[in-house]
Amino acid sequence: MTANDHAPTPCPDPDPVLAAAGRRSAELERRIATDPGRFRVLTGDRPTGRLHLGHYFGTLQNRIRLQDQGVDTFVVIADYQVLTDRDVADRLTEHVEDLVLDHLAAGIDPGRSTVFTHSALPELGQLMLPFLSLVSVAELRRNPTVKDEITHSRQASVSGLMFTYPVHQAADILFCKANLVPVGQDQLPHLEVTRTIARRFDDRYGPVFPRPDALLSRAPLLLGTDGTKMSKSRGNAIALADSADDTARLVKGARTDAERRITYDPAARPEVSSLLLLAALCQGRDPHAVADEIGDGGAAALKRTVTEAVNEHLAPLRARRAAYARDRAHVRDVLRAGNERARAVAETTLDEVRTAMGTMY
Ligand code: TRP
Repeated sequence: MTANDHAPTPCPDPDPVLAAAGRRSAELERRIATDPGRFRVLTGDRPTGRLHLGHYFGTLQNRIRLQDQGVDTFVVIADYQVLTDRDVADRLTEHVEDLVLDHLAAGIDPGRSTVFTHSALPELGQLMLPFLSLVSVAELRRNPTVKDEITHSRQASVSGLMFTYPVHQAADILFCKANLVPVGQDQLPHLEVTRTIARRFDDRYGPVFPRPDALLSRAPLLLGTDGTKMSKSRGNAIALADSADDTARLVKGARTDAERRITYDPAARPEVSSLLLLAALCQGRDPHAVADEIGDGGAAALKRTVTEAVNEHLAPLRARRAAYARDRAHVRDVLRAGNERARAVAETTLDEVRTAMGTMY
């Protein structure tokens, strides 16, 4: 049994769309286990800074598991998509390199997985134009994730990129004919756009693209040190790259409650339970067992346990990260090689697209 089995499993979701996506993901996991060679994964992140423990247990470990199961894995560093958020779109080089470092440290092997950036693939732009012709403005406006981002953006006006980046994301996924996209539920509308574009393209020009499936990650919900969702922008996150001392300080300042006896009860005691879950994930144990061991030790003992568990679990990762960080040339080589491999794949797909469209001159 792995620690993930102890995570509060999102039991049958009342939302029928999510429930269906959950069932489909379980079926896909069974197929991946028996025949990993049939799958190609494309997933990725916006470069907004260093990854934290929420990312690590939510998505990063999942990517490494898929890679290690033998699935051909592509990771896009979405350095064009991040332009939708002007607050984090500066210091791009640093943020991109941080993402590469976090992936390498966590176990992404550039010999098996392809890590690349949007900006290195002009083919994505070339796919985007015909793709844009296949979706209506009304469809773009209806995208709930985009609507949400517009509501939360602190910008005076909404850019054209904001409405069209899901179409660019379809190009991210379809250029390499990925059939599996591990994502959280906020990305499901984008997957739907991708599938729609693939279907309409094939209907109009002939078969070129797969219909990629979302693979919903069984992400445990880790709270930040203030008791709300762990997120870099809220300043409540523990980064993978933080030192053991930073970790001790952050955990020490974490919110708990006044009850001395430590119990795992996510509904009634979210902060204490999230800390227990974090220790349990690091130790590959059941959070109830961690709670029993601490017993009447109170918040101080809980925090000592969590700090030790995180620091011990991350020590090898942090050592690798520090070593890679001293060798920026290597980081850039990894990216250059990933970009080259991704480009070769993109050129082949673009040739197929041109042939299908009758624009191969
Ligand atoms: N939209 C994703 C995010 O905001 C990042 C992303 C870009 C992505 N292209 C992708 C995710 C393709 C999955 C597949 O985190």
